[in-house]
Amino acid sequence: MFGMSNTIQTPYFVMYEKKLIHNLKKLNELEEKANIHILHTVKSFNQDTVLPIISAKLSGMSVTSPKELDIAKKANAKKVHLYAPAFKEEVLKEMIPNISTLSLNSLTQWQKFLSLPVSKGLRINPKLSLAIPTHCNPNLNSSRLGVDFVDFLDIYHDNKSQFEELEGLHFHALFQDKTEGLSLLLEHIVKYYQKVLPQLKWINLGGGHNFTDANYDVNNFVKLLDNFQTKYPNIKLYFEPGETVTKGCGDFMTTVLDIVVTEDIEVAILDTSIETHLLDVAIVNQSLQVKNTQKKVTPYFYELSGNSCLQGDLIGKYYFTEPLQIGDTIVFEDMMPYTMVKMTEFNGMEKARFYLQ
Ligand SMILES: Cc1ncc(COP(=O)(O)O)c(C=O)c1O
Repeated sequence: MFGMSNTIQTPYFVMYEKKLIHNLKKLNELEEKANIHILHTVKSFNQDTVLPIISAKLSGMSVTSPKELDIAKKANAKKVHLYAPAFKEEVLKEMIPNISTLSLNSLTQWQKFLSLPVSKGLRINPKLSLAIPTHCNPNLNSSRLGVDFVDFLDIYHDNKSQFEELEGLHFHALFQDKTEGLSLLLEHIVKYYQKVLPQLKWINLGGGHNFTDANYDVNNFVKLLDNFQTKYPNIKLYFEPGETVTKGCGDFMTTVLDIVVTEDIEVAILDTSIETHLLDVAIVNQSLQVKNTQKKVTPYFYELSGNSCLQGDLIGKYYFTEPLQIGDTIVFEDMMPYTMVKMTEFNGMEKARFYLQ
């Protein structure tokens, strides 16, 4: 009923170019209206056939490893920002000639790499009180991501000389934010870093911005940044969103291989597996949107499962609008950010292919 798999073999991810262009246009408009620089975070989406399209529209890319740097270079990224929780000396040294800015994550790493010839900043944990799921909340007191802002300011005020090389600050503290968190973050910066700001050339305001959401408050965004830039016109502002760049731009297509009737429920076995293609379902307990299903109860209730040997390879239970049949295509919607990058070959299953349409 949902159509047999067409000529392309499932499982595969498909990206709709028109939707990507729509998102990039929005991001571009924000860059121009707010006089900011948006860097695509490569770990969220790294398809080499598409990155040149993203690269042509945005100010650059944000990377965390030599492999991602290579990908960004091949995509002609205009500017590359590098950050990782910790660097091996030999690996970092090799990357330095190809990056524009670097954020270090701790005071130990700051001391160790102080003399490297690149514009350097420190990642700070601003410890904002925001309602963010724990697994991706870098503001926690226990977070290893960034120097605790109180510690940084204490040391800075006591011994400024060790920060003569400091040109930037990096705050990745938000999650799917529609300007409420950004407003708090900018207030935090203006309130606490008065003595540090005059020496800075850039601030990276991280990812976690819902820029391409239809309800994103563009006017408030522009206002917040205008206010900040009026006070600090010499500081370049970078953002490094991931999710929002490819949000809503593509789906994951699978096929029903069998339908097993158990005592409790009918289980549709698909040509995929959580551990292979859908790790976010396991890691962040994400429930996936499936085409032709609804919240309202229907007689066509199925559990969708993967094809691995783990009993727990269960994707979710859904009410379909019509009965499922072997050979039907099951479409998981809005699957571009992160999921694809995390694929494995667990159970000898092949990674899913990718198509641009
Ligand atoms: C340091 C850093 N910057 C940017 C991002 C992108 O965040 P998002 O995909 O929420 O925009 C991440 C995501 O984990 C990150 O760790």
